[in-house]
Amino acid sequence: MQPLESYRDRFPILEHTTYLINHSLGAMPVGAEEGLLRYAREWRERGVRAWAEGWWETSTAVGDQLGRIVGAAPGTMAMHQNVAVAQAIVLSCFEFEPPRSRIVYGEGEFPSVRYLYQAQRRRGADVEIVADEAAVLEAIDERTLLVPISHVLFKTGEIQDVKAIVQRAHEAGALIVLDAYQSAGSVPLDVTSLGVDFAVGGSVKWLCGGPGAGWLYIRPDLAERLEPTFTGWQAHARPFAFEPEQDYAEGAARFLTGTPNVPALYAATAADGTAGRAARGGRLRGAEPARPRAPGRHGRRPDSRGRGRLPRARRARDHLRFPAGRRHPPWPTLLQHGRRAPLRGYSDSRDHRHPRLRTPSRRGRELDD
Ligand SMILES: Cc1ncc(COP(=O)(O)O)c(C=O)c1O
Repeated sequence: MQPLESYRDRFPILEHTTYLINHSLGAMPVGAEEGLLRYAREWRERGVRAWAEGWWETSTAVGDQLGRIVGAAPGTMAMHQNVAVAQAIVLSCFEFEPPRSRIVYGEGEFPSVRYLYQAQRRRGADVEIVADEAAVLEAIDERTLLVPISHVLFKTGEIQDVKAIVQRAHEAGALIVLDAYQSAGSVPLDVTSLGVDFAVGGSVKWLCGGPGAGWLYIRPDLAERLEPTFTGWQAHARPFAFEPEQDYAEGAARFLTGTPNVPALYAATAADGTAGRAARGGRLRGAEPARPRAPGRHGRRPDSRGRGRLPRARRARDHLRFPAGRRHPPWPTLLQHGRRAPLRGYSDSRDHRHPRLRTPSRRGRELDD
């Protein structure tokens, strides 16, 4: 197998920066830049013909490509702008009518998800927010309609036991909406074998595809039974007939909305080989976090609680060790350590904030030391 280190050259920023923040914004692969240039060239030279020459299909073609990383069969993935939109489409398939009107989730879910599900109270949903995975398992009952859960929790990096939650939810007749944003491309994920009903994620982080592309997986046998009310002409079986009534397309296409975000989708799959390889557990000189979680329960995001004032790059330098032959933390980090380059550059997340909010110079100098 090709060693993971051979992917280094595909990430130009690694030439001069130790990149430790893929859990926020993944390092850009050269393929992303090429994809964006290709998009601009096609628009300039092909004009409206570009729609028929591939642009229109990007929402499902890119979904199929990312599906190979997350274990989704062709035709089960639809691309959207982000997770909030993807989850809103899922929610739009359901009414919240007793006796099954409950939504149960843990407080560690990402804000996009929390806010969206909380807002369903106005549609009659009985929303129950509980402390953790064990409490989610306990709270699921015959009144539960939906259970949104994260594979890897965004704050703590903890991997949740998705299989156990799926089993409990299905016993009770509830459906699972898996948020795999912090796991897709980072840890092994197979939405089909996990048996989840829906799954969502995006290209911003471990898939290294930049902002603007979120994915939605729908269990194929479920797809045919659902009719999202958050819909648009791309979800129609014959979109270019411009018919007066919706007639849903088959498969994941019925979960589309309007015009696809073509440039973002051209960038979204630029790193799919690398992400897939990393997610399957590529090794590079081996390393593990200095404070590992229970075996098998550690995602790729460092736990930042209580250490918010340290620049992330330094924090990571202090908290990683690299014993030979052990499994590793985030692969872009290791790609850099593989050459033993000094830590330098602006890996501190604060530097991408608005200029007025930045704390300049000292933090940068610390990293260059
Ligand atoms: C677990 C998780 N879900 C969702 C998101 C992003 O949500 P959205 O695509 O709505 O911006 C993030 C971003 O950090 C995340 O970590």
